[in-house]
Amino acid sequence: MGLVYRYFLRPLLAFQDSEQAHSRTIKMLRIFGNNFVTRIFLSGLYRSRKSLPISVFGHEYQHPFGLAAGMDKKGEAINGWNSLGLSFAEIGGVTMLEQPGNPKPRMFRSNTHQALVNRMGFNNPGSERMQASLKHHFTRFGKPDIPIWVNLGKSKLTDNKEAHKDYSTTLVRLWNFTDVFVINVSSPNTPDLRDLQSTNELRKIIEECNKANVRKANEAATYPKPLLVKVAPDMSFEQLEDIVTVAMESGCSGIVATNTTVNRSSEFDGDENLQQLGGLSGAPLRKTSTQFIEHIYKFTNGKFPIVGVGGIMNADDAWEKITAGASLIQAYSGFVFEGPSLTSAVVRGLDKKLKQHGLSKIEDAVGLMHKGSN
Ligand SMILES: Cc1cc2nc3c(=O)[nH]c(=O)nc-3n(C[C@H](O)[C@H](O)[C@H](O)COP(=O)(O)O)c2cc1C
Repeated sequence: MGLVYRYFLRPLLAFQDSEQAHSRTIKMLRIFGNNFVTRIFLSGLYRSRKSLPISVFGHEYQHPFGLAAGMDKKGEAINGWNSLGLSFAEIGGVTMLEQPGNPKPRMFRSNTHQALVNRMGFNNPGSERMQASLKHHFTRFGKPDIPIWVNLGKSKLTDNKEAHKDYSTTLVRLWNFTDVFVINVSSPNTPDLRDLQSTNELRKIIEECNKANVRKANEAATYPKPLLVKVAPDMSFEQLEDIVTVAMESGCSGIVATNTTVNRSSEFDGDENLQQLGGLSGAPLRKTSTQFIEHIYKFTNGKFPIVGVGGIMNADDAWEKITAGASLIQAYSGFVFEGPSLTSAVVRGLDKKLKQHGLSKIEDAVGLMHKGSN
């Protein structure tokens, strides 16, 4: 099926505007995922028969590979992600207010470099409408079989001084439907959003989200949900250490590294699409994001779980992220270029790598690079 995607579906999609192709794919996945028969068909085609269980953030994951934020902004295709064999799906970014995002075109693709540039700007229905649609989904289909993560963004109209309220309002609205929250202060397409990565601002946001999280947990007589922080790759390691320290001190459960980059290498000079304003993702991001994971792992002595994302296109890339220190991994661009069979290819490849290294559990591979052999 990977071949069908590569030689038939992908060229077909390449003739369409990137965002249109994306919307059509999500819509198709929603329809297929919501129908019992096609859901089984999808699972048969794409689900990996291998299982690489790992326990992180209080959940058992079937394997470490999940969907990165931004692919399913509205949480439309939850059943689809499960059918495609992903072990968790991060939906959103969701903001307190509904917003259209930046003017189109705002998503660009380079097949040559296996890279995307986007300046979407958190186009999303807002957390109030999202609450209603998730409620509807849960009523119709029950709780999803895989953990659902929610990426929390900040509304463009909300001043940075009030950002903490924007994030915590969305958290409260979506709490009943979410397993893990990711505080996203690292998207490059909302003006000044990345300023919220400064320690004081970030602490304020995490503390407000934590308060709301504990309140909701008490009401439901259960535990608070894990809160993670997602970082940008465009900063010094010193700045990264400050963010990680604040996240640990204020009770977060882990870090997601990394979001897209605003940096462009000179090798892209002739590529019009990659010169577009916005965040670059895909293969060219791989190395930097892995270096960030490596650094966080070393800085925290492997004590703070890391979710690795950026440029995972195959099992080798996934192995690189895990051995650098990531307990879980995610992809967005990889699915655009490799199609839905990426998940089973990655899971099968990781299983093979474990065997080659004489390891019995994926957990044993986390941070292996720092232990002298990989
Ligand atoms: C079109 C697009 C939209 C994205 N939207 C979000 C978002 O809303 N929130 C977020 O944290 N990351 C967002 N991302 C970043 C991805 O989650 C991921 O961190 C990044 O693309 C690197 O992974 P990749 O190389 O596998 O794509 C988006 C990426 C793309 C390409």
